[in-house]
Amino acid sequence: MPQVQAPPPGFFADTEIVGREDHLRLHLNENPYGPPPGTVDAVRAEAASYLNRYPDSECAELRGRLAGHFGVTPDMIAVGNGTDELVLVTSMAFLREPGASVVTTATTFPGYVVSAAAVGARAHTVPLRDASIPVDGVVAAMEQGAELAFVCNPLNPTGAVLDRAGVTRLIDAAERSGTVLVFDEAYMDFAGQAHEFALDEVRKGRRILVTRTFSKAWGLASVRVGLVIGPQDLIGRINAVAGALPFNVNRPAQRAVLRALEQPEHIEQVRADNAQARELLYKSLDNLNIEHAPSVTNFVMVKVPGAPGEGTAPGDSVAFAARLAAEHRIFVRNLDVLGLPGYLRISVGTVDEVERLATALTALLEHH
Ligand SMILES: Cc1ncc(COP(=O)(O)O)c(C=O)c1O
Repeated sequence: MPQVQAPPPGFFADTEIVGREDHLRLHLNENPYGPPPGTVDAVRAEAASYLNRYPDSECAELRGRLAGHFGVTPDMIAVGNGTDELVLVTSMAFLREPGASVVTTATTFPGYVVSAAAVGARAHTVPLRDASIPVDGVVAAMEQGAELAFVCNPLNPTGAVLDRAGVTRLIDAAERSGTVLVFDEAYMDFAGQAHEFALDEVRKGRRILVTRTFSKAWGLASVRVGLVIGPQDLIGRINAVAGALPFNVNRPAQRAVLRALEQPEHIEQVRADNAQARELLYKSLDNLNIEHAPSVTNFVMVKVPGAPGEGTAPGDSVAFAARLAAEHRIFVRNLDVLGLPGYLRISVGTVDEVERLATALTALLEHH
């Protein structure tokens, strides 16, 4: 039986740097703009009246409103305590047989392989093609009989996104092989509707699952709400496992999302603000000759400059991230922990935050 694998060392060690004005959190792809107006008041009111009451275990009102928002029926939605929980619950639902396996890409969100190991399944990780999702490799691995596949689209940590042809090829292959294919679309709200091919296919009745989260563009990471959308029977199997956690989405969290959903224009604004700040980040990196990947998300993958005279090899991302934290109190994700030594993933932040980062990078490179 595979050993239960913990997230890479240090991965979540720095989540608790909060409420300190002088620290800049660019390591968790959070939303610096916060949730839609009124959401905090909704949480406060719910907590003030009902902290002693269990939440609705069916999340009936919430699923109804989510169904309206995503253009599906309520029985096509399961909600959970963040996408994190849904990745584990989905793994428990579909990796039941001894020797079951999951396919995913290498160097991505660690939850997929950690969950596979937790349920005793094998994980097959397909190397990226340049910085993009290796469609051929994932298709081949599904054809070899994987029961479950997780494709992070847009891809954390590179920011690449699949085109319609790539999404369709993966879905066709999954339907042929009988693999339950999950698109983790945690960052799709930043990319926009033009890239939402998988959800379109779910609406047409294709047999895939799509996850979404309220932690990113909606600015609600703290309350922990994620959802998975798909055909009724697959959602039924997920809900059967989730039945062991009947109150996993708490009352203030349900209320927060209900209030947030009244203002869908909020994520349009966040998308526009993020795109503007991302352009500024690209320009700042270009001015410093720092190579970066194109991104449709709220993070950018950056190659740490090597020491002068050492060719094109990247520099030391561990040391670079440590200096940004120690000397400038700016936290970024060192991708060494995901198997990409020499690279960083930097959340976009606001325009002001990009300017602060650019000043820090300039100072660091002067003494590089
Ligand atoms: C690709 C991806 N999936 C899922 C998650 C977890 O999201 P949630 O906060 O909904 O658990 C993250 C969080 O960073 C992520 O990057």
